[in-house]
Amino acid sequence: MAYINEEEINKIRMEADIVDIISDYLPLQQKGKNFVALCPFHNDHSPSLVVSRDRQIFNCFTCRTGGNVFAFVMKYENVSFLEAISIVARKIGYNLQFDPTKNMGPLKREYEIYNLALKFYLNNLNTTEAKEAKEYLISRGITEEIIEEFKIGLALKEKDTLYQLLTSKKYTLDEIEKLGLVNKAGENVFDTFENRIMIPISNNSGQVVAFTGRIYHGEDAAKYVNTKETSIFKKSHILFNYANAKKYIREKKEVVIVEGNMDAIMLAAKGIKNVVALMGVAISQDQITELQKLHARIILMLDNDNAGTDATIDLGEKLVKSNLDVRIVRLSGAKDPDEYIRKFGVTAMEDALKHGTSYLDFKLNYLKSDKDLQKIPDVVKYIKEVLASLSGYDKLTKEMIITQLSENYHIDKGVLKENLKEDTAKKIEVDVPKEVVRKTKYELATNKILYAMMLDSRYIRIYKEKLGYFKNKIERIIAQEIVYYNNTNNGINIADFLSYASSLSDEVSSKIMDIVSQNNTEEVPIQEFNNCLDVILSELKKDEIKDLKQQLRKTIDVNEKMEILGKIANIKKEV
Ligand code: CTP
Ligand code: MN
Repeated sequence: MAYINEEEINKIRMEADIVDIISDYLPLQQKGKNFVALCPFHNDHSPSLVVSRDRQIFNCFTCRTGGNVFAFVMKYENVSFLEAISIVARKIGYNLQFDPTKNMGPLKREYEIYNLALKFYLNNLNTTEAKEAKEYLISRGITEEIIEEFKIGLALKEKDTLYQLLTSKKYTLDEIEKLGLVNKAGENVFDTFENRIMIPISNNSGQVVAFTGRIYHGEDAAKYVNTKETSIFKKSHILFNYANAKKYIREKKEVVIVEGNMDAIMLAAKGIKNVVALMGVAISQDQITELQKLHARIILMLDNDNAGTDATIDLGEKLVKSNLDVRIVRLSGAKDPDEYIRKFGVTAMEDALKHGTSYLDFKLNYLKSDKDLQKIPDVVKYIKEVLASLSGYDKLTKEMIITQLSENYHIDKGVLKENLKEDTAKKIEVDVPKEVVRKTKYELATNKILYAMMLDSRYIRIYKEKLGYFKNKIERIIAQEIVYYNNTNNGINIADFLSYASSLSDEVSSKIMDIVSQNNTEEVPIQEFNNCLDVILSELKKDEIKDLKQQLRKTIDVNEKMEILGKIANIKKEV
């Protein structure tokens, strides 16, 4: 917490109403004193995220995510605690004296290097040597405005190198090489990108973390070269144009997914701004998780070739199984969205996007493509494949497809239904963390006590009087932190305590978040608190009895034995 003091954090937290801030991200519905929404952190089917205005905290009963406003922004935007603070500050118009993406944190140098590289490549495009590259861009319909908007640049060969620039700024060869901007070959060092149009790739917060470079003359080199995986760039974590598109995707509740960077650039430039590119035809679980958070329908629009068709099935399947609403657009008359929009115009593209088919329709058609449906074995194969694909769909959809099959191929519906595999548990993969282990009575009581202490200093007093410590280390530490916080701040407020908790060790802070999300946002009645204390006290007594019984076994002396037995009897009387 070296960059911003706790007082300021609390001030921002207090000025930012959690209900307002979360409303920027999700539609909230009022329910009594609280607000509810579909939880963005798992595949939610009915609203399980609860936001409390009184407490200024949120939590999800299903996936157990919870915390204060900063915790929400951290999770949602996938940013650090400090970045979350600056985002919230910006939202409420609070003038924060630092920008965590610019001048702090361990990643400072990496970002600085990439920002310099970006400027370097941008500058190259304004030199006389850029003539050919410019002509190429123009020939593709990439205008000056698009160049500016996407910060497209140029890597040259026969000019000063990025390597020279960066080393003159006191960055080391080693760190530049690790960031993928130069390559070593024996004694020699070369810029990774030479004679390429440079397209910057940003992470989800909009910070440039990599480049993709395209050749613009000749055909002999690889069409694209991408930055290798580095400490700040994992290709499978990133969707190209995500940071720019996020806002529009939320507005439209739709996201267009394309293969190529150029496809995304061209669509966005023409006003279809809710577009991201996979930079290929693969999709990773991280990317799917990112898409789930957007709560948007997906329009999958891959290239117009066989690879694109096969990938549509592969990705469509994965996305549908992740409970996403997927529509498919297959273009004709052009090889990819970029070419399509240049050939037929933006209105034709918008029209195509409006008329996507459902993934199921697309798949049922696709299954026909390798079959001759005049031949019985192919029909049988087709029907089996269709029935297998219905797993996971609702009853009505199944009924409709089966009726259709029955009519088209003159097969009894009953027979078709017999062949329909019963859906197993894998049907809906609710993305709940695996360790949803049942908590023991003792653990539940401990959690409730700690939670109540975070809510109300009255409970801290009772805890100190009646209990004073927990037997497990992590719970003991949390109780100590609560007591400490209460003493130094003359009271406790859960939302601020949670900010403070972010500065504690990962183990402690995540356990605190866990406790918060396991409890609802309501008061803990005194009766319930006392019952929980009783559970803990009786557990402690049982432990004591266990210890005494062990002593008893070890003792030979009769008098001592009698004494221990007496102690045990006394404790038992109290329980
Ligand atoms: N790609 C890559 N390396 C290659 C080819 C492709 O990384 N050698 C990635 C790029 O991100 C590219 C995407 O896969 O944008 C789709 O490839 P392709 O359809 O071949 O490229 P286009 O996007 O059509 O590129 P262009 O229009 O510039 O030819
Ligand atoms: Mn293309």
